[in-house]
Amino acid sequence: MKILVTGGAGFIGSHVVEQLQQAGHTPIIFDDLSHGMREHISEGIELIVADVRNKAALEASFARHSFSAVIHLAAQTLVPDSLEYPVMDCRINLEGILNVLECCRKYHVRHVLFSSSAAVYGDNLNIPLQETESLLPTSPYGITKMTTEHYLRIYHELYGIDATVFRFANVYGERQGEKGEGGVVSIFCKLLSQGKPITVFGNGEQTRDFIYAGDIARAIVAALPLKGYHTINVSTGKETSLNELIHAFEFAVGHKFDVIYEKPRPGDILHSVLNNDNLMKYLKIKPNMELAQGIRKTYHWYVGK
Ligand SMILES: NC(=O)c1ccc[n+]([C@@H]2O[C@H](COP(=O)([O-])OP(=O)(O)OC[C@H]3O[C@@H](n4cnc5c(N)ncnc54)[C@H](O)[C@@H]3O)[C@@H](O)[C@H]2O)c1
Repeated sequence: MKILVTGGAGFIGSHVVEQLQQAGHTPIIFDDLSHGMREHISEGIELIVADVRNKAALEASFARHSFSAVIHLAAQTLVPDSLEYPVMDCRINLEGILNVLECCRKYHVRHVLFSSSAAVYGDNLNIPLQETESLLPTSPYGITKMTTEHYLRIYHELYGIDATVFRFANVYGERQGEKGEGGVVSIFCKLLSQGKPITVFGNGEQTRDFIYAGDIARAIVAALPLKGYHTINVSTGKETSLNELIHAFEFAVGHKFDVIYEKPRPGDILHSVLNNDNLMKYLKIKPNMELAQGIRKTYHWYVGK
């Protein structure tokens, strides 16, 4: 299948593109390279360098190719930036998806797969969070993700465009930037590769649900044949404390290192984990990367880059 991947030169996008190719599909990337990089993409893959807010450029690529599906990953991804520049966040994330959906409507693309986030749940403490929980985002970023989910639902109801919404937990892996959601792993990679100590805010017993980017990509590729409208948490379903993460890093680095424990930051949630039953129910898959192995791969990529 010919598949448009917006944001395909980014961290998660590059894993998705790799697995699409391995599965025999033809990915075409649409990315403005604001955060993504050409080096993330192997040669021979078509890259259209343009902004998703540029409707004409998007439409030209839909007119030139006959896409079977769109994987929409391009986004303003930084929660702090969404607080600082909410209008910019809104334009990239909402104008972007509307341009994509209007093109899908015009060019009869059957399926849109979208990277939503655990940020749509806000500070809900009813963990492990299920997809049916009420949504109460606490940032403009979470609001644009939630609103995009609604646009997808409405375009499905009105125009029959199938939609798969993935709510990712904390994603880590090779090619991750240091700022994005879940960036703690790449921050640790950077500091440790420079021989510097790492800082933890709080006692390290706060937990997150760390999922390897390759497992995210596997879920997305597996969802291509889905029909209808689905919402699927993509997570390990397991809580990992920062102290356990540090332990996995000790294994990757090969020795102990200094950890500085500072006061907890106000507003940081203590525990976060997503129920992942829908992965098995709709896609018949489970994440298969063990944390220690995933951290080792990521750290060694970081050291070697
Ligand atoms: N990394 C995580 O833990 C995580 C968690 C939940 C959701 N997500 C979502 O997954 C998607 C991919 O995130 P990522 O972590 O790979 O981030 P990333 O920044 O590496 O990738 C985003 C890509 O989109 C491109 N892009 C940004 N603005 C664009 C625009 N206006 N037009 C065209 N391209 C544009 C960037 O150049 C980049 O290549 C995003 O939608 C993000 O919100 C990520």
